[in-house]
Amino acid sequence: MTWQHIRIAHFGGPEVLERVDQTAIPEPGPGEVRIKVLAAGTGFTDSFIRRGRYPDFKGPLPFTPGYELVGIIEKAGPGVTAPHEGQMVADLCVIGGYTQYAIRPARFLVPVPDGLDLAEAVCIPLAYLTAFQMLTRVCHLKPGATILVVGASGSVGTAFLDLARHLGLRAIGTCSARNMPVVERFGARAIDYHAGDFVAKVRHLTVGQKGGVDAAFDAIGGGHFARSFDCLAPGGMLVGYGSQTMATGGEGLLSAGLGLARLKLWGALPWLFGGRHAAWFSITERRAAHPDDFKADMATLFELLRDGAIHPVVIDRLPLSAAREVHTRIDAGGLGGKIVLMPWAAPVPSDFQ
Ligand SMILES: NC(=O)c1ccc[n+]([C@@H]2O[C@H](COP(=O)([O-])OP(=O)(O)OC[C@H]3O[C@@H](n4cnc5c(N)ncnc54)[C@H](OP(=O)(O)O)[C@@H]3O)[C@@H](O)[C@H]2O)c1
Repeated sequence: MTWQHIRIAHFGGPEVLERVDQTAIPEPGPGEVRIKVLAAGTGFTDSFIRRGRYPDFKGPLPFTPGYELVGIIEKAGPGVTAPHEGQMVADLCVIGGYTQYAIRPARFLVPVPDGLDLAEAVCIPLAYLTAFQMLTRVCHLKPGATILVVGASGSVGTAFLDLARHLGLRAIGTCSARNMPVVERFGARAIDYHAGDFVAKVRHLTVGQKGGVDAAFDAIGGGHFARSFDCLAPGGMLVGYGSQTMATGGEGLLSAGLGLARLKLWGALPWLFGGRHAAWFSITERRAAHPDDFKADMATLFELLRDGAIHPVVIDRLPLSAAREVHTRIDAGGLGGKIVLMPWAAPVPSDFQ
């Protein structure tokens, strides 16, 4: 029997994604399990990694991309007592998701309840968990608070809006004009970031409240952090969680570094800035520091999904062979949701010719 995975042997554009056939089924070592991967999330972070610009992964090459997966444990290696064989699990794997079989350490796997749509379930480990932890563990927002979500039409952005609605928060989101309906579908106010100064628009929308938002979430990074900080009401908090502008070459390393330095300054000296403050968030750093929160929050999110309280925006479900097409679409921007790879779906014959 042959099985497939996607491999990157050189950093670069979508063309570096290659489909590879394997014959030997991989065996888990001590503390590991073999997962039959049924859904693999895709997103901007995968593109960031593919370009070789992601600070937390620079190799070794070759590797299989894919930040998050959901699948069934086929075989547990020596010493693994939980989760058990036959259990559906989710993993925030950083790399390794675009595959039919994955060998993964058992310790961070989280059980997935029965009966979920697996393409929706795979939106939980990265997009929803990132948004949920920033909303509830970093900012501690109360119902009625107003948030600004920069990049609100993306995977993490729509997760923010969905969770904000569930938590009783008011949301303002920036996006491209054609994605405004995606943002408004969650009851949020949409601002086209191509059409003028979004800071003035946020202030206008919050006149009569506090003249700004209680929290802002920004993954554009670099100089953009200062604009998001300007949107805060006194006492408000900016959470920076990405450097998208550096990933796409819009700004250089220096600008991204200055953006991070500003976050630190605002975080350290809030009294200089009207009580407005700031912090950096990384889902993998937070998981390493608080593994119990990671598992508890994942379980909470899967319960919300099972109960129909949250609704991930899955725009396409495609076979592994579509990986290049998916990355081309991610790089073009404007997706308005998440594309999920379904590794056991039949391949598209025209791909990877
Ligand atoms: N730190 C963490 O723990 C963590 C975790 C997950 C993700 N991230 C980061 O979060 C970011 C978003 O990831 P994603 O998967 O949600 O990406 P995505 O689905 O591609 O969404 C990107 C969003 O950014 C918007 N956007 C693009 N350029 C913009 C600009 N100049 N100004 C304002 N908005 C702009 C897009 O709007 P339109 O498409 O409407 O133009 C879209 O809403 C990435 O940088 C990723 O690496 C960080």
